[in-house]
Amino acid sequence: MFTAFNLKSVTIPNRIVMPPMCMYSATEDGYVTNWHRVHYGTRAAGGVGLIILEATAVEKRGRLSNNCLGIWHDSHIEGLRELVQLGKEHGSVMGIQIAHGGRKAFGDELVAPSSLAFPEMGTPQALTAAEIEDVVESWRQGARRAHEAGFDVLQIHGAHGYLIHEFLSPLSNQRTDEYGGPLENRMRFLLEVIEAVKKEWPADKPLSVRLSAEDYLEGGLTVKDTVWIGKVLKRNGVDLLDISSGGLLPAPIKLGPGYQVPLAEAVKKEVGIPTIAVGLITKAEHVQEIILNERADFVALGRELLRNPYWVLAARPDREIWPWQYHRGIPR
Ligand SMILES: Cc1cc2nc3c(=O)[nH]c(=O)nc-3n(C[C@H](O)[C@H](O)[C@H](O)COP(=O)(O)O)c2cc1C
Repeated sequence: MFTAFNLKSVTIPNRIVMPPMCMYSATEDGYVTNWHRVHYGTRAAGGVGLIILEATAVEKRGRLSNNCLGIWHDSHIEGLRELVQLGKEHGSVMGIQIAHGGRKAFGDELVAPSSLAFPEMGTPQALTAAEIEDVVESWRQGARRAHEAGFDVLQIHGAHGYLIHEFLSPLSNQRTDEYGGPLENRMRFLLEVIEAVKKEWPADKPLSVRLSAEDYLEGGLTVKDTVWIGKVLKRNGVDLLDISSGGLLPAPIKLGPGYQVPLAEAVKKEVGIPTIAVGLITKAEHVQEIILNERADFVALGRELLRNPYWVLAARPDREIWPWQYHRGIPR
């Protein structure tokens, strides 16, 4: 887990990823605050290989809360650039997840592929084809701003029941036009987003997509569908798949350490693409097992890194990776 991994022009110094985690600490207009500076700066000083910033909204109506980070306006670039500089200065590769909440967004202006509500939330408007074009354009602009801010990895949020996932799953997409029906149609929106993003995101920087590999519901997406989706994404220039699950609708999920690893493993083996495994992984031996057995290329530690920003340092008490300022604290 301490070996570097090259993705296009970017070298990620180790296999530990901080996955996107909403901090609900931006200003109401989506700007970076001191919380983000401390939070991300600390994980970079703590030796995390790749930090993926929390879901950052490509449209104001796509925010997941009224304190989510935004990337829907050029004025957001400056604060994000500061986070990139902080992270890079302390040794991490900096990525960002760009997102649209769709029917699970914050506020009254909910949009989705179909007018089907998430339980106990408002009923969304089904997007027209012309509106889809506008939303795709906002993803393109988001990618441009992410590049201008200096991020080295861009992740498109295609998981957890948000807009892209709502298009992918037959349980939330009942359209009868070219965006609905068979999986190849349900994928159209995501492919249009990728095509738009690639107009702005440089070809030498890695592009990632996060997917929910299973809806865990009858008639929903399965890992078999996800392998199929992964093959199409690979052909369309995606470099790294981050494999999560669930979130479309409440579902029975059997939780346990590494419960999503078999999903990442299936995608890695059958698609032949680098993957991130995530979900209830906390122990260094578990991370080593996943990497050494090539079940995934990266392991993301979410809540564990909230508890312990110095997880990587603790796993490797070695002057080589510890910040010199902390050398006297290395356990002997
Ligand atoms: C506070 C918090 C916020 C999260 N926000 C996001 C997010 O913005 N985007 C996303 O894709 N996943 C989000 N997640 C899911 C995490 O990225 C991760 O997949 C999940 O926590 C499982 O990993 P863990 O068991 O190591 O925490 C969030 C999780 C937490 C705990």
